[in-house]
Amino acid sequence: MSRVFVLNGVNLGTLGTRRPEVYGTLTLHDIEKLLRDEFPDLDLEFRQTDFEGEMVGFVREAAGSDGLVINPGAWTHYSYALHDALEAVDVPKVEVHLSNVHAREEWRRVSVVSPAVDAVVAGMGAQGYLAAVRYVLGSDA
Ligand code: DQA
Repeated sequence: MSRVFVLNGVNLGTLGTRRPEVYGTLTLHDIEKLLRDEFPDLDLEFRQTDFEGEMVGFVREAAGSDGLVINPGAWTHYSYALHDALEAVDVPKVEVHLSNVHAREEWRRVSVVSPAVDAVVAGMGAQGYLAAVRYVLGSDA
């Protein structure tokens, strides 16, 4: 059975009510359910935290798993700590954003974590998570 980590960072616990015109109306729990329904045989570790150090710990835990999908939220744009943690974990890794960060504020176009992952998905809403998990499962990276 494949084991995949899907990690959600700061403020993603408020999905559903937070700017639905940007992030959609699904809650994080809805997204987790979508993944569990789509990949019933997966050993899925689906987590969220608002604490950067805790997220670094989650990333380290993913070492030895079959893949890691991460939506770092605003940490995307400035967390070198998260970059370094991701860089040190040698599993297929995908960065996901619900919104198209390139069509928003200038500062959202910069991701300091992208150099440490294999692929980036942005603007596909919850479908981006499905695509990312599919990728890590099929990836030979
Ligand atoms: C986000 C985009 C980030 O810029 C923002 O800070 C988030 C969510 C997204 O999923 O579109 O919290 O990662």
